[in-house]
Amino acid sequence: MIRLAVLASGRGSNLQAIIDAVGRGELPVKLVLVLSDNPRAQALERARTAGIPTVVVRREDYRSRRDFNLEILRWLRRYQVDLVALAGYMRVLSPEVVRAYPNRIMNIHPSLLPAFPGLEAQRQALEYGVKVTGCTVHFVDEGVDTGPIIIQRAVPVREDDTVESLSGRILEQEHQIYPEAIRLFATGRLRVEGRRVRVLEEG
Ligand code: GRF
Repeated sequence: MIRLAVLASGRGSNLQAIIDAVGRGELPVKLVLVLSDNPRAQALERARTAGIPTVVVRREDYRSRRDFNLEILRWLRRYQVDLVALAGYMRVLSPEVVRAYPNRIMNIHPSLLPAFPGLEAQRQALEYGVKVTGCTVHFVDEGVDTGPIIIQRAVPVREDDTVESLSGRILEQEHQIYPEAIRLFATGRLRVEGRRVRVLEEG
């Protein structure tokens, strides 16, 4: 079984979806570590409740962004992590971490990339006036929300949508596609060919 670490800064509902999928026996992974840069993250509570080891690495405890990221890398190595899932992790990983895990770090983003990268993607989509948005699971490269796309799910924008209502409907889809993307990885069904991620047939 592959060893999974989740990095989260906040609420942790995507982490919860992963924990629940593992609990139902749907994901052949061992969730070995939840790491946060925020000691108050609800994600840490969720991990403790599920009996998963947690660690907090705070940016302010390190002189440079590089040193902070090297500490994260040490934890990933200590726990012999095979796959890293960013789930509401609010910082950009430094090149040292990304290069150590090529196509082995995933992120979930609440838009149909490459539209609306960066912060507040749901607000960006509403303000732009798109009729369809959604969510994307992708591998992490050295850019921001630019890596090869694994799964996307479309969500229609309704006439009366607010940022909150739209975010809620996108989140329901996030909770389905993130465990699914991890399952595809864990069962050896993803092949990265340049920018394209090919999903192999089962069996
Ligand atoms: C999600 O919308 C995710 O797409 C984005 O940050 C949010 C995290 O939510 N990257 P949660 O912490 O998983 O509840």
